[in-house]
Amino acid sequence: MSIEFRPITEVIGAEAIGVDLSRPLDDETFSALHQAWLDHTVLLFRGQDISVERQKTFSLRLGTSLDIHIQTDYLLDDHPEVLVLSNLKTDDGKPVGTKDGGRHWHSDLYWKDIPAKASLLYGRECPPVKGDTLFINMGAVYEALPEETKRRIDGKKVLISRVRSWPIDYPHRPPLTEAEKANLPDVVHPLVRTHPETGRKCLYIGNEASAWIVGMDDDEGKALIDELMDFARQPRFGYAHKWQAGDALLWDNRSTMHCATPYDEINHRRLMYRTTIMDGIHPA
Ligand code: SIN
Repeated sequence: MSIEFRPITEVIGAEAIGVDLSRPLDDETFSALHQAWLDHTVLLFRGQDISVERQKTFSLRLGTSLDIHIQTDYLLDDHPEVLVLSNLKTDDGKPVGTKDGGRHWHSDLYWKDIPAKASLLYGRECPPVKGDTLFINMGAVYEALPEETKRRIDGKKVLISRVRSWPIDYPHRPPLTEAEKANLPDVVHPLVRTHPETGRKCLYIGNEASAWIVGMDDDEGKALIDELMDFARQPRFGYAHKWQAGDALLWDNRSTMHCATPYDEINHRRLMYRTTIMDGIHPA
């Protein structure tokens, strides 16, 4: 199989040409793809026709396990490793997936002690306009920070509290129950993490709405998060993916943040399958 990786921008994203994810990949192709993914942080595969089994098998090859999401209502029947993102409903009116997930800048499973390594999002049905997924290369962001900012954030830690941020993230959803809260303890991560495979330093916020800074009062910490996010959101670090049915996007949660965007949920259909890849490596 002759493959090519065509950069999407100078700092983020590449399209993998000549890769058919519906078939097993030989070691040479997989290793080229893996390296291109590390280099570009987001890989796009267009025109794919991937079964659920293939999506799971390919995803698992990139890590040690697949996450089973805590939003159990939105897992695919018989395939709990697949999280469904969708505005569609079953014939009896039950949502088939989460329709408003990920609308803040975040990395997947940011609330976990060991967050996700990677995510593969496969677009089965996509709205003709809007519903883009936005990405930022957080390694490029860190490198471009003023030296004074790098000194200021050196050694700082980010505190992630899904419990505190739930009403901000999901104002239209019911509050968390005490049992759910007990399953979501606060976690702390370095604000600057070293990517375990590339050695690149990457800014880590987790989720812009859920992040506080250890040792700073709330206002001061939020001001620092806002300052860093304002810097990170500059278009020069980012990529907005416009979905077509058959697109598969593989992103590195250790070196990117992403953000889902709204679309016309009344008139258009969106059905996406996400596998979330874990590696058991504690961020450092
Ligand atoms: C996600 O945050 O994983 C979902 C992104 C999207 O639905 O565009």
